[in-house]
Formats: sequence, structure tokens, C-alpha cells
Amino acid sequence: MELLCFVVFLLLGSFSISATDETYNSFVQCLSTNSIPNSEIPKIVYNTSSPSFTPILQAYVRNQRFNTSTTPKPNIIITPLQESHVQASVICSKKLGLSLKIRSGGHDYEGISYVSSNGPFTILDMSNLRAINVSIRDESAWVQTGALVGELYYRIWEKSKVHGYPAGICTLVGVGGHLSGGGYGNLLRKYGLSVDNIIDAQVVDVQGRLLDRKAMGEDLFWAIRGGGGASFGVVLSYTIKLVPVPPVVTVFRVEKTLADNATDIVYRWQSIANKIDPNLFVRLLLQPITEKTKGKKQGKTIRASFIAEYLGSADTLLAVMNYTFPQLGVTKQDCKEMSWIESVLYWDNFDNKTSPDVLLNRMPQSVKFMKRKSDYLQTPIPVEGLESLWKKMIELGKVGLVFNPYGGRMDEINATATPFPHRAGNIFKIQYSVNWDDEGAEAANKYIGQTRALYDFLTPFVSKNPREAFLNYRDLDIGITTNGIKSYEQGKVYGIKYFKGNFERLVKVKTAVDPENFFRNEQSIPIQPKSLRRRL
Ligand SMILES: Cc1cc2nc3c(=O)[nH]c(=O)nc-3n(C[C@H](O)[C@H](O)[C@H](O)COP(=O)(O)OP(=O)(O)OC[C@H]3O[C@@H](n4cnc5c(N)ncnc54)[C@H](O)[C@@H]3O)c2cc1C
Ligand SMILES: *[C@@H]1O[C@H](CO)[C@@H](O)[C@H](O)[C@H]1NC(C)=O
Ligand SMILES: *[C@@H]1O[C@H](CO)[C@@H](O)[C@H](O)[C@H]1NC(C)=O
Ligand SMILES: *[C@@H]1O[C@H](CO)[C@@H](O)[C@H](O)[C@H]1NC(C)=O
Ligand SMILES: *[C@@H]1O[C@H](CO)[C@@H](O)[C@H](O)[C@H]1NC(C)=O
Ligand SMILES: *[C@@H]1O[C@H](CO)[C@@H](O)[C@H](O)[C@H]1NC(C)=O
Ligand SMILES: *[C@@H]1O[C@H](CO)[C@@H](O)[C@H](O)[C@H]1NC(C)=O
Ligand SMILES: *[C@@H]1O[C@H](CO)[C@@H](O)[C@H](O)[C@H]1NC(C)=O
Repeated sequence: MELLCFVVFLLLGSFSISATDETYNSFVQCLSTNSIPNSEIPKIVYNTSSPSFTPILQAYVRNQRFNTSTTPKPNIIITPLQESHVQASVICSKKLGLSLKIRSGGHDYEGISYVSSNGPFTILDMSNLRAINVSIRDESAWVQTGALVGELYYRIWEKSKVHGYPAGICTLVGVGGHLSGGGYGNLLRKYGLSVDNIIDAQVVDVQGRLLDRKAMGEDLFWAIRGGGGASFGVVLSYTIKLVPVPPVVTVFRVEKTLADNATDIVYRWQSIANKIDPNLFVRLLLQPITEKTKGKKQGKTIRASFIAEYLGSADTLLAVMNYTFPQLGVTKQDCKEMSWIESVLYWDNFDNKTSPDVLLNRMPQSVKFMKRKSDYLQTPIPVEGLESLWKKMIELGKVGLVFNPYGGRMDEINATATPFPHRAGNIFKIQYSVNWDDEGAEAANKYIGQTRALYDFLTPFVSKNPREAFLNYRDLDIGITTNGIKSYEQGKVYGIKYFKGNFERLVKVKTAVDPENFFRNEQSIPIQPKSLRRRL
């Protein structure tokens, strides 16, 4: 018996080594016939025997769930140093039938930029392509997709203290996934999403052509501003429009528990959060915690943390709060005035003496196990609903919710202007959020199970037909495509949730630019079934 296993193991082993060898050699040869000098190839192509393979793979893993010995690993990692390397990589991957995963900052919540559930795959890692050029005269910037949003904020701040860009609160997210998937942060109510402030882009298409906005045409340019880049090509860069920020902004963080009437205040928050002055963004974090009275642990309660960014001074913020949301009881002591870049650091939980230079550090302090889900609300949750929600959250124990207010600029932008469809009428988006540190399937099942249970619980209160979801909060629970003959039907399940009425236009663009579905992943835009294609 033992001997038999050994023989089988040997056979499998030698088979897989020779298969990888062959793939690797053919790939390298193909790059070389596509004008990549042989001297450059070892600097950009790594197979599993390379000592750099594991460090490169792990460098942009941002969820410990996908950093285990059983996580499927790529056969090859490509780390292009220039645009032509990307072009040749696409041509050669297509030619050899490699399944290509594109990774920029690696923050995908389900890890689909560096893990595959559908057999062998190769990673195209964009982290070396991260140049940023800022022009204050044009109020624009050109940013390669391997850059992180924190680096972009830093380069803008270096040139101007009164310009910014509406993008993520977590400064380590990558431009490639973040901008192609929507991208939002605390400037959302004033200036909309990242994708509402993009004026040009460069893409490498399935034929390896390098296309700018003019060359790719308005349909593809539309698709890569919220439809997710990975279905359409490799986005190399975006040209963005900078937005004005005042020299002084104000932040606060005010916490209330159930004993402080959090229920009434949260209820009130729902009726002002999307209607208040668009210069003000008040995020709400809800968490089950153990109550402490005089240092003694008591029962469980819910903590509601209200975190604000206001584009103006503390005095005007206090006047706005006093007028629209006095229930929160914000005082002058709660308000901190600072520059916009300091508020970027504040929101990303750096302490108040941290220099903006920290934004050039690409590596996180620690990487946790995570699960996220999302929902949208167009009607407020009634008081009794909130009370039952608190009970449920306390019962589950760990999963928290983040309410991100909409309204303002988000109400003004047509839902068809970009693939991102969640515009007028949304009060807020919910993020279901749980992080944990314990390894193993038991903990993962427990905490992921909590997010699913809370998602089920909130069904009566959230959007319906479809139950909407945010692409950048990737959630494979809402459907996956296995890329078989049913891929359109499968893709429609999550596609309608992420894109609503824009899904069909994305399918048309996809079918036109990548008819053989080379650029695919677990939740990519499917191609149109032949039966639905219009005959020419
Ligand atoms: C800690 C944390 C905080 C976050 N905070 C926010 C936030 O404040 N606001 C917000 O909107 N989102 C936030 N997100 C979600 C984040 O915006 C998305 O996960 C986003 O896709 C990350 O981009 P990335 O380049 O880092 O990810 P990656 O994992 O590299 O890529 C994500 C997806 O985009 C594709 N892709 C990446 N680069 C390219 C490219 N160059 N061309 C084509 N396709 C590409 C990938 O193949 C994959 O499908 C957060 C995520 C995390 C983990
Ligand atoms: C891995 O790459 C090296 C060159 O860096 C090459 O010599 C070797 O054959 C490759 N091995 C496999 C298994 O592909
Ligand atoms: C992934 O796991 C390895 C140990 O297997 C660890 O050294 C590394 O730091 C982890 N990566 C991240 C991003 O945390
Ligand atoms: C950005 O700046 C670099 C270095 O100055 C330059 O080589 C490049 O052409 C610039 N790119 C754009 C699009 O302006
Ligand atoms: C909570 O609300 C009740 C009734 O409105 C009020 O009497 C009480 O003072 C409030 N408690 C706090 C801590 O604000
Ligand atoms: C708040 O508004 C009330 C009137 O509604 C006013 O009397 C009070 O002075 C205001 N307080 C502040 C701090 O603006
Ligand atoms: C900075 O943080 C310290 C410690 O938390 C605090 O004592 C101090 O008041 C803060 N300063 C400002 C300006 O917020
Ligand atoms: C949104 O844009 C579409 C397409 O251009 C148009 O038909 C529709 O009337 C617009 N809707 C609104 C509310 O302006």
C-alpha cells in the first residue's frame, strides 16, 4: 500500500514538474519572440522553483484566508517593469492558454487577483508599474495602476495643499482594482466616486494593443470605470481629475452605546446622513462590545461610532450639526481641525504625530483574516428594526456593520453614467465586516457564518429585486461563474446585483472587446450567449 502511494506520488510529481517546465519554457520563448530581451526575462518571470516566487506572491496578499499552504498557487508570476512587458505577457498567456489573474494592490476581499478556484493560473503583478505624475496647472494626475491610493494622495499633497482626490479610506488599496471597481471614500458626498473623476486611461487589450481613451472608444472607457478592469483587459494607468479641498478640514469621532440612547441617534442619523451638507460625511460603525461601568465588565451592548470628515472649519461644522443633528451632541472639544492630508492619516488610524511620509510605505502592519459583504438601503430601518438588529448582533458576537452615507453628488450622477449603478435614492451602503486572528477552518466557518446570518437577518430592510451589492466589496457568496456553457446565466446572478441595469451594457462591451473570454475570473462579466447576439 505504502509503496503504491509512493509510486503514484512520484508519477504525479514528475508529471507536474515537466508540465510546469514546459509551460515556463514555452512562455519564456514566446516573450522572447515578442521582443522582450532575454536579459530582461529573469527579472520579470518567476516559476515555483525561484527563491523569489513565495516572497513575491505573499507581498500583496491582504487577507490571511488566502495565505495558507492549501491555497491554490500560481504556476508563474510575471512582474512587468514596462508597458511592453504587459503587452507581451497578454499575447503569450493567450497563446499558451494560461489563465491570467491581474493583481495591483491585492486588496480583493476574496483574493481573486491571486487565487483561482478554476485550475492552473498565472499572476500578472502590476506592483512595479506605479509611476505618478501630478500637474497642478491642469488639475490632473496620471497614475499607473500598481500605485496605491496613499501614494497618490502623497504625490498630490507634495504639490498642493488644496487639492485631493476622492478615493479609498484605506491608503494601501491599489489603484488598479480600486478605480476599476468604483472606489469611494469620505469625499463621496461632495465629489462622487473615484470613477466620476477619471478623464483618460490606458489599457492593454486581448490582442496586446496599448489603447488610450480615444483608441479604445467610449464603451470600453465606460466599462473600466466601475465594471472591474479584469473582465476587459489590463488597465495600465488612469488619468484623473483632482478636486479642490480647503486648507482646513475638521474631523470628529463620537461614540454612543445603547445606554446613551444610541438607538434614537442611529435612527435620526438615517434621516439626515444623505441629506446633510455635502461637505459633511458622517460614517457610522456599529459593533457589539462588552459594556464597562466603573472599570467592571457588565453585559453586552452596541457601540455606535460616528466618524466625520467636514470640508471646512470646526465652527461651521458645529453650526451644521447643531442645525441638523443636535441629537449627537457634538461639542467643540470633539472637533479636530487639520489639513486634508492629516485627515487622510486620521481616517486610516495613524496617530496624530505621523508624518505623511508614512503613505510611501507600501506594507501593512499586519494582515488579518477577513470577510466582507454589502447591502444598500433606500428606506430607513425603523426603531423596532434597529432594536432587533442590536439583539442579533449581540447574539452573533463579532460581526460589525459600517453604514456609509450617500446623497449629495451621488444623487446627481445618472445611474448609467458609469457601470456603478447605486446612485439617487440610496440613503447608505452597509458593509458587513469581520476580522479575526485565529487560524483554521473552524474560526473561518464561525465568523463567515456570522456575516451570512446577519445578511439573512437584514433581508427585510435592504434593497430588493435586485438585492444590490458593491463590486469593490467582493463577495463570492452572491454567485460565481464557472465559465462553462452557463457562464452568462451564472454571471447574471451577481452581475445584476453589482450593476443593475448596466449589466447588459457591460456584457455587450465584453463580447465586443474579448469575444473568447480570455479575461475572466470567478465574478467577471460573461460574454453574450451566441443565441442573443444580433446577427450582422
Ligand atoms: C483593508 C481594505 C480597505 C478597503 N477600503 C476601501 C475603501 O475605503 N473604499 C473602497 O471603495 N474600497 C475599499 N476596499 C476595497 C478595495 O477598493 C477593492 O478590494 C479593490 O479592488 C482593491 O484594489 P487592489 O488593486 O488593491 O486589488 P487587487 O486584489 O489587486 O484587484 C482587485 C480586482 O481588480 C482586478 N485588477 C487589479 N488591477 C487591475 C488592473 N491593473 N487591470 C485590470 N484589472 C485589475 C483584479 O484582477 C481583481 O479582480 C478596501 C479593501 C481592503 C482589503
Ligand atoms: C524555473 O525557472 C528556471 C529559470 O529561472 C528554469 O531553469 C527551470 O527550468 C524552471 N523550472 C520549472 C519547473 O519550470
Ligand atoms: C503569509 O504567511 C507566511 C507564513 O506562512 C508569513 O511569513 C507571511 O508574513 C504571511 N503573509 C502576510 C501578507 O501576512
Ligand atoms: C510621467 O513622468 C515621467 C517622468 O518624468 C515621464 O517619463 C512620463 O512620460 C510621464 N507620463 C505622462 C503620461 O505624462
Ligand atoms: C435618553 O433619552 C431619554 C428620553 O428621550 C432621556 O430622558 C435621557 O436623558 C436620554 N439619555 C441620554 C444619556 O441622553
Ligand atoms: C444651536 O442652536 C440653537 C437654536 O436652535 C442656539 O440657541 C444655540 O446657540 C446653537 N448652538 C451652537 C453651538 O451653535
Ligand atoms: C494627539 O494624540 C494625543 C494622544 O492620543 C492627544 O493627547 C492629543 O490631544 C492629540 N492632539 C491633537 C491635536 O489632536
Ligand atoms: C440618464 O441617462 C440616460 C442615457 O443617457 C437617459 O436616457 C436618462 O434620461 C438619464 N436619466 C436622468 C434621470 O437624467
